[in-house]
Amino acid sequence: MKLIKLVSKIKILELPIALNQADIRNDLKSCTPGEWAIFQLNQGVQNYIGFANPFAENKKILRLVKEVKSDVSEMEDEDVIKNILEEYMAEAFKKRDFYKGIIGVCCRMFYGDQDGLPGLIIDRYCNAIVLQINTAGIDRYEKIVSNYLKKYFNLPILYFENSFLRKIESLPSFLRSSEKLQFLEVNDNQVIIRIPIVDLQKAGFYFDHSYNRLKFLHLLRDLKLGDLQVLDLFCYAGAWGMGLLKHDCARYVHFVDQGDFDKTLIDTANLNSISKEKYEFKRMDVFEFFENNTDKYDVVICDPPAFAKDTNKIPQALEGYRKLFFQCLAHVKKNGFMVAASCTHGVSLEELSKLIGFEAIRANRTLAILDLGTQRIDHPISSLSGSAFYLKYICYHITN
Ligand SMILES: C[S@@+](CC[C@H](N)C(=O)[O-])C[C@H]1O[C@@H](n2cnc3c(N)ncnc32)[C@H](O)[C@@H]1O
Repeated sequence: MKLIKLVSKIKILELPIALNQADIRNDLKSCTPGEWAIFQLNQGVQNYIGFANPFAENKKILRLVKEVKSDVSEMEDEDVIKNILEEYMAEAFKKRDFYKGIIGVCCRMFYGDQDGLPGLIIDRYCNAIVLQINTAGIDRYEKIVSNYLKKYFNLPILYFENSFLRKIESLPSFLRSSEKLQFLEVNDNQVIIRIPIVDLQKAGFYFDHSYNRLKFLHLLRDLKLGDLQVLDLFCYAGAWGMGLLKHDCARYVHFVDQGDFDKTLIDTANLNSISKEKYEFKRMDVFEFFENNTDKYDVVICDPPAFAKDTNKIPQALEGYRKLFFQCLAHVKKNGFMVAASCTHGVSLEELSKLIGFEAIRANRTLAILDLGTQRIDHPISSLSGSAFYLKYICYHITN
């Protein structure tokens, strides 16, 4: 393994860490994308192992993942890398096992940096594992990862390529064979959902809000509410609304999404013994839906996609949220509920609540916040200040 010397002023307080060209003494020209190396600090007092990608567009050309003893070089390179990859996966899977009472079996099993390996995302479904690799250093050793997964789970592996993230690492995107899977099946709070492979978004299913869905269910049940007219906006495979139907909290759910989820919802309803009389699906743009709709609902669930992928688009994102939440607020009945979600990392919980508070004044609605939430613990975060904290959930009671 190559030895790369780091400049001595660097302080490494936590791992993994991403470094750039200014942090190294030699240059990386001789490194191939994804090459693993030993990184030396303070003349070898501290040694780290990690991988390099001189072509990373985001300038994060080094990823240090583990502190090692200097004698690591006595082992075969591939053995060292295999040990690290397997150790981190085993650790992450053990953590999910510990959390099983909260997260169940279907969940995110590995969450990139938060589980120690940048660019590695592993999701577990009832019938498959979905594997996403978004850094060159992991991509290069994909076989070690997939062999370990096959042995550990004994399930088919579906490779999901996030072309946006892979492009940043100059990695090609192509569909790899998915062992002829027709759908992914997920158990989300006892609701069985089947998503056809052709309709998959992100890595398949939005596990991140699962605990918020459960909390919302409990909240309605504790309030002894069960006969509600619900509007589920940006519904995707219908996880929010189908959960309310399955657990007898909703009388009727109106699902809206611009994607083609008709068949997914029919299959989900059938699998969960939900009558087709209890819901409808409108395939349309949510903003258009509001233009021609004056109905009011007991519950409006608004779980949109990220309105901004990077921070310079935040003003447009805020404008989008403003328009959207004004309409949502206007369509909730007196004494009804609004679920406001956001997965835009650059919009904080406080900003979101301020914006909704302002729109409530414009819409002449009075709000009480009943609950707050973030991503479920299979998307672990150690602090609210890093970029890993992206998901916000606010549950409102509209009292007038
Ligand atoms: C974050 S996901 C929603 C996740 C979903 N609520 C769940 O719990 O699984 C975003 C969804 O919004 C839909 N979408 C994005 N923009 C839209 C728009 N302007 N109108 C309607 N649907 C939209 C996408 O098709 C996608 O299904």
